[in-house]
Amino acid sequence: MLTLIAQLTIGAADLAAAFLFLFGLKRMSSPATASSGIRVAGIGMVAAVAASFLYVFSADAAAKPHLMVNLTLAIVALAVGGVGAWLVGRKVAMTAMPQMVAIYNGMGGGAAGGIAAVELFGGKTHGTTQLVVTLLGALIGAVSMSGSVIAWAKLQGVLKKPLRIKGQQLLNGLFFLATVAVGGWIVVASLSRVDPIMPLASWTYIFFGLALVFGVLMTLPIGGADMPVVISIYNAFTGLAVGLEGFVLGNPALMIAGMVVGAAGLLLTLLMAKAMNRSVANVLFSNFGDAKTKAHHGAIKGTERPVEASDAGIKMRYASSVIIVPGYGLAAAQGQQKLYEFVKLLLAAKVQVRFAIHPVAGRMPGQMDVLLAEAGVPYDLIFQLDDINADFATTDVVLVIGANDVVNPAARSDKASPIFGMPILNADKAKQVYVIKRGQGKGYSGIVNALFYEPNCNMVFGDAQAVLIKMIEAVRGLGAAAA
Ligand code: TAP
Repeated sequence: MLTLIAQLTIGAADLAAAFLFLFGLKRMSSPATASSGIRVAGIGMVAAVAASFLYVFSADAAAKPHLMVNLTLAIVALAVGGVGAWLVGRKVAMTAMPQMVAIYNGMGGGAAGGIAAVELFGGKTHGTTQLVVTLLGALIGAVSMSGSVIAWAKLQGVLKKPLRIKGQQLLNGLFFLATVAVGGWIVVASLSRVDPIMPLASWTYIFFGLALVFGVLMTLPIGGADMPVVISIYNAFTGLAVGLEGFVLGNPALMIAGMVVGAAGLLLTLLMAKAMNRSVANVLFSNFGDAKTKAHHGAIKGTERPVEASDAGIKMRYASSVIIVPGYGLAAAQGQQKLYEFVKLLLAAKVQVRFAIHPVAGRMPGQMDVLLAEAGVPYDLIFQLDDINADFATTDVVLVIGANDVVNPAARSDKASPIFGMPILNADKAKQVYVIKRGQGKGYSGIVNALFYEPNCNMVFGDAQAVLIKMIEAVRGLGAAAA
C-alpha cells in the first residue's frame, strides 16, 4: 500500500514539477512577470526534490537497491546546499552575478557527472544504450564542471589572462579524441569478453580525468569578456548531461528539467551570439578581444568635448524627450537608484523619458532589465532595441550611461571593425548626446567609439553614480531657485 501511494505521489510530483518548470520559464520571458516565474520554477524544483525522496519508498527502489540513498546524508547535503545558496544569493552584487551563475552551473555539471560515476563505478549499468548514455552524460557533465570553474575564475579575476599556447586547438582535439576512445573502450570491455588490460574502474578514472582536463583546456584560451556566452554553452551542456542521467535513472523530473535547461541554454547562446553578430564557433575559437582586435582604432577624427554634469542635467530638464541608454558601467557603479531618482525629476517636469535596452548591454543577458527593475523603474518606460531604434532620430537628448560598444556607430559603417554588423542603438542620430563614463576606458570589444567624437556628443566624465548625484542636485537646485 505504502509503495503504491509513494508511486502515485511520485508521478503527481513529477508531473507538477514539469508543469511548474515550463510555466515558470514562460513567465520569465517578460520583466513584469520574471520574478514570479523564478518563484514558480523554484516550487517546481521543490516538487522534483520531494519526488526524488519519495523514490526510497517505491517498489522500483526495492528492485534497484543500488539506487537507494543514504537519507541522512541526502538531507544534510540538501540543508547545507540550500542554506549556503540562500545566503550567497541574497548578498551577491549584480555585477558578480555571471560568476555566481558559472559556479552553480559547474555544480550542476558535477552533479550529473557524480550520478554517472555512481552508475559506472557501481558497475550497475546494463545494456549498451544505458552504458553509452551514462558515459555521454559523464563526459558532458565533467566538461561543463571543469569548464565552468575556469569561467568562474576568469570572471572573478582569479585568472587574469587567457592562456594560449601554439597548437592549442590540436591539443584540445587530441584530448577530446582520447576521452571518447577511453569511453568506447569501457563500453567494449564491459559488454564483451575482451580483456580490459586494467580494471574497468581504472579506465573510468582515466575517462573522468581526461574529460575534466578537456573542459579546462577548452576554456583557458577564451577571453574573460566572452565568458557569459561560454557559461551559457556550459549551461546547455549541464542540462543535457542532467537529462541523460535522468534517462539512466528513469527519473522523469531530471529528464524534463535537464532538457528544459539544455534547450534554454542553447537558445540563449544562439541569441547572444546573434546580438553580437558572431558565430558560436567564433566565440569559442577566435580569441576575440586579443591584441589584434584591440589594435583596431578605425579612422576617428576630432576631439572629445567634456561638459559639467550640472549643465547636462539642466539641458535634459528643459528637453521634451530623453532616451537613456544604460550599459555595463551603470551596473559597475551601482547607479540605478540615483538614475531613477533623476528620471523621476524629469518626469515631474513633463519630459518624456524612455530607456533603450540593447540585448547584450552589460555582461549577462537581461542585466539592464534586472538593474532597472531593482530600482523600481516602471516596465512601460523600458523599450528593447527593435521597438525604440527608429525614435532616436526625433529625440532631443540621449543619455548614455556606462555604455560603449552598444552605441558604437562603427558597427554600422566600418567593415574593418571587430564589431561590424552588430546591431546597435542609434544614439548618434539624436539631436544631442551626453555620455557618462569615467575616462578613456574602452568597452568590452576594446575599441574606440567614434560617437564620443561626433559634434552632437558631449562627455560627462566621472563615476556614473557620482555624476547622477550632481545632475539631481542641479535639477533640484532649479526648483529651489524658482520657489
Ligand atoms: P561596454 O562596451 O563594456 O562599455 C562599458 C563602459 O562603461 C566602458 O567604456 C567604461 O568606460 C564605462 N564604465 C565602467 N565603469 C564605470 C563607472 N563606474 N561609471 C561610469 N562608467 C563606467 O558596455 P556595453 O555598452 O554595455 O556593451 C556590452 C558589451 O559586452 C558588448 O560589446 C557585448 O557584446 C559584450 N557582452 C555582453 C554580454 C551580455 S549577454 N550582456 C555577454 C558577452 C559580451 P570608462 O572605463 O572610461 O569608465
